[in-house]
Amino acid sequence: MVKKLKIGVLASGNGSNLQAIIDRILRGDLPAEVVCVITNRSDAFALERANNHGITAFYLNHRDFSGRAAYDAALVAALKGEGVELVVLAGFMRIITRVFLDAFPQAVMNIHPALLPSFPGLHAQQQALDYGAKVTGCTVHFVDEGTDTGPIIAQAAIPILPDDTVETLSQRIHLQEHLLYPEAVKLYAEGRLRVEGRRVVVSGIHTSPQSSLLNPSA
Ligand code: GAR
Repeated sequence: MVKKLKIGVLASGNGSNLQAIIDRILRGDLPAEVVCVITNRSDAFALERANNHGITAFYLNHRDFSGRAAYDAALVAALKGEGVELVVLAGFMRIITRVFLDAFPQAVMNIHPALLPSFPGLHAQQQALDYGAKVTGCTVHFVDEGTDTGPIIAQAAIPILPDDTVETLSQRIHLQEHLLYPEAVKLYAEGRLRVEGRRVVVSGIHTSPQSSLLNPSA
């Protein structure tokens, strides 16, 4: 039997990317298991999604801790307690500190709703619209100490249409995110990602991991 990668997911909101990963696992072609979901907001719908699938899930309020490092230490303790091997940030709207990264070296992933290094930080869709960009997208990357600066694992490009609003653009970005993130997690679970400086080398494919290439049927 293939060993399943133990994933911990951190989320602050809806959790549609969490759902996409759960669904991909249920389809049977992602050798992983979501063993725990933690949110920093009590009203995060991600908690309900986890409960619906019998996944251990809880809310950890960052305001109960003296600072970022103390909060991250508590997150690490909870994730390690569940045997987590890969941490997946799925709309987790907090900066991760060195305490966290040292506990999970090259094992924290994030998804960002733009083609990094363009439009990092908050409101990436609004930034792309304001800039007048014709193409944006989404990026899965390993997390480092910067804001959306870690080595890039996979990207998908999405055209910006003349009448796009933040809502319409976000919807189309989400569709691509739901393909791209499970695919990136799968590459990790299969041991096919190697970080060399800024580059993530993907073994076994000869193109960049981009959702339309990896999911030709999508
Ligand atoms: C996603 O679009 C993700 O790219 C974004 O939050 C959304 C979460 O959606 N993340 C960031 O902006 C991080 N800087 P979800 O809760 O439905 O998965």
